[in-house]
Amino acid sequence: MQETRRESVIRLRGAPQTFKYAVDGGPAMQPCILVIFGATGDLAKRKLLPALYKLHERGMPSVTRIIAVGRRPLDDAAIRRDLAEFITDKKEWEAFSQRITYHQLEFDDKAAYDRLRERLETYDKSLAARRVFYLATAPESFATISRNLSAASIASRRPQRGWHRVIFEKPFGHDLATAKALNKVISKIFSEQQIYRIDHYLGKELVQNILVLRFTNSIFEHLWHKEYIDNVQIIVGERVGVGSRGGYYDNAGALRDMVQNHLMQLIALTTMELPKRMEADSIRTAKVKVLKRIVREPPAKIRKHLILGQYTEGMIDGKPCPAYRDEQGIPKKSTTETFAALKLFINDERWRGVPFYLRTGKALHHQYAEIVVTFKQAPCRLFCGPDGTLAPNRLIIRIQPDEGVKVTFNIKEELADMSAIPVSMDFSHKAEFGINSQEAYERLLADVMRGDQTLFTRWDEVQEQWRIVDHLRKVKVPLERYAAGSHGPAAALRMIKKDGRDWSGNIPIK
Ligand code: BG6
Repeated sequence: MQETRRESVIRLRGAPQTFKYAVDGGPAMQPCILVIFGATGDLAKRKLLPALYKLHERGMPSVTRIIAVGRRPLDDAAIRRDLAEFITDKKEWEAFSQRITYHQLEFDDKAAYDRLRERLETYDKSLAARRVFYLATAPESFATISRNLSAASIASRRPQRGWHRVIFEKPFGHDLATAKALNKVISKIFSEQQIYRIDHYLGKELVQNILVLRFTNSIFEHLWHKEYIDNVQIIVGERVGVGSRGGYYDNAGALRDMVQNHLMQLIALTTMELPKRMEADSIRTAKVKVLKRIVREPPAKIRKHLILGQYTEGMIDGKPCPAYRDEQGIPKKSTTETFAALKLFINDERWRGVPFYLRTGKALHHQYAEIVVTFKQAPCRLFCGPDGTLAPNRLIIRIQPDEGVKVTFNIKEELADMSAIPVSMDFSHKAEFGINSQEAYERLLADVMRGDQTLFTRWDEVQEQWRIVDHLRKVKVPLERYAAGSHGPAAALRMIKKDGRDWSGNIPIK
């Protein structure tokens, strides 16, 4: 299968340079050996292997090999059987599965790493010189695995041939202190250019689109400013509860699990200035700059607009959902939040005074993620709708499901005199480009094999994100209750209503 390379060249107004934005592919994936730690875990089975299977279909170099590393005693046939269950369309499965072998290893067993090195030495030298290590394990094992890979000379900072890259799944740390400690260990072993910290939201098609949408369209770019924007909302709702991930989730909660990473990245991409160049470091530098300007307000102020909640028993999609405290692995008296809504401000020239409302939760009414930019009212007072008001313009970036972009505007109501009603223009990614858009992990894994760090978070981004969330977490607020399958705690609605606004977007939040 031939890898196709489609590139569009985007000339940004006011910027002297030309930006190349790889629409599909970019530089080719290089052949390598991909070693997945935690290969028998949920993430590997549900996301990583299906993503690699898709990459195989799309033309991943045929010599690329996958070593699945796990603690359980399995053989190649058994791991292949296990993983096959997670692949729906199995047309290429036979050929793909031949790439996978299994290596049993306890993360702290040094001798097992020697065996892994010997195994790597059995491959063709030039293939084995290019290594990707994916740490899809519990974060407590990240430091141990990194140290042992280095001690056994499996991964090194300056390999004699080829390259070694290491992917760290989230969460990267539990708070700023633990993230710093982890970063200290791994940055003694690897250089920043070798470290790929995952935030899978960055691999989502519409998230990658934010910068293109903002900076290449003068209808948005010129209005992307406090003068014209009334407020921005970042909403990520999940219908699912914690399911079998209780052990991890109860130590995390919505602020750590979603706000610290995915929502912070969405806010950074929505608000950053134009990067100097369209490449990893310039983009990451621009993101850090705006993250540093997120205001850390005093506790008394935060208390007024930080709402935390936990779900109680309810019905989702006609099926009963237990209360969070009755989920598997959750203590009966847990006070972990499964919902967070908050308001933030950014203290820079572009955004001073514009409220950013964030909201995320589990076991909610809808499963969706979107960014809603509401523009200020047009100055004209001559027209209004039948109810005497005029709807503001909105730009809705729909990240999932049904990726797309929607713009709302006013138009004369048919047959009425000059009253104005809101209508929308809706772009559907699927309808335009077909249903075969890349899954987030597919894109991210391909990028590691290409050596492109743009969609991975640099340490200073992670650090700033933790600073913000640690600051919020220090403030004690009451834990609200909401029924599973509802729109979340009523307090979140009251919080925004107090500002004379509503949660807006595709899904009405009542
Ligand atoms: C993960 C969180 O990072 O993102 C999960 O740990 C959450 O709790 C998931 O369910 C949401 O991702 P997506 O792609 O389903 O929106």
